[in-house]
Amino acid sequence: MSARIGVVGSNMVDLVTYTARMPEAGETLEAQSFAMGHGGKGANQAVAAAKLGADVLLVSRVGDDLFGGNTIRNFETLGIDTRHVRAIPGTPSGVAPIFVDPTGENRILIVKGANDHLLPADVDAAADDLRQCGLILLQLEIPLETIYHVIDWAAREGIEVLLNPAPATPGLALERILPATFLVPNQTELAILTGQPTGTRAEAEEAARLLVGRGLKAVIVTLGGDGALLVQSERTAHVPAVPVTPTDTTGAGDAFIGAFARHYAATRDIEASMRQGVRYAADSITRPGTQKAFADAAGFAEFCRRLDAG
Ligand code: RIB
Ligand code: NA
Repeated sequence: MSARIGVVGSNMVDLVTYTARMPEAGETLEAQSFAMGHGGKGANQAVAAAKLGADVLLVSRVGDDLFGGNTIRNFETLGIDTRHVRAIPGTPSGVAPIFVDPTGENRILIVKGANDHLLPADVDAAADDLRQCGLILLQLEIPLETIYHVIDWAAREGIEVLLNPAPATPGLALERILPATFLVPNQTELAILTGQPTGTRAEAEEAARLLVGRGLKAVIVTLGGDGALLVQSERTAHVPAVPVTPTDTTGAGDAFIGAFARHYAATRDIEASMRQGVRYAADSITRPGTQKAFADAAGFAEFCRRLDAG
């Protein structure tokens, strides 16, 4: 199976404000600092995998504004295949105003812009290239009909799919995503998918098992400071977190998925790939921003060496 990774997903420009607290209605509040960066869940996952050395094909849409051209150049610099990243005339690029508090916790708004114009026909237009991929990553910042289309197409082609149901989208139809190989929610997304409490690891496991009971092959729950949990019909596996002091947790889930995908596409070893994902995400939250916080292969190897040395 090919180690090439396909991502059919979003890109956004992240507008990140670091603030002690959120303003009340009608209040003006001075914040500590502001930074702009490349983000969007699809792009983040593609970039994490590419920075670690994966061969990545991205299918995505940008606006016909300044952000759009910059975004495509950023992908090209990172060696991502952008033949299917196009601008939508008369449409703005996706943006994400993000607010990060002193504990590194984030609050994110997204305005999808061009991402809402990535349609099933665009996936068909990229089919010959997507067919070369051994794993396809999906998130929920593009139209649901496109998500379902990729899942159906990949099932017919025998290509594995990882669906990250983020941001939590109540309209997501469980029966349409059953052919996906992996569902990778965080605890909030899992709670919305199942209507169950997911606050503790035991609760998350029970909720994930409910989804497996409904026919999903593998659910990997990212648990933040408690690592990640794999639930399949025949087994459960927990990968503990790596203790770090968070600066900015934005994009940690994307870092996990990008690193997981890179390792899984090369080895098909689920638990070893989860360990890579947990470590890569931990390293990423020690730095501000999303894509710019993701280490390259050498930086990540150094982080792992220090961890293993204790
Ligand atoms: O997962 C983090 C991402 O969510 C940010 O980069 C932001 O763009 C939103 O898509
Ligand atoms: Na970060």
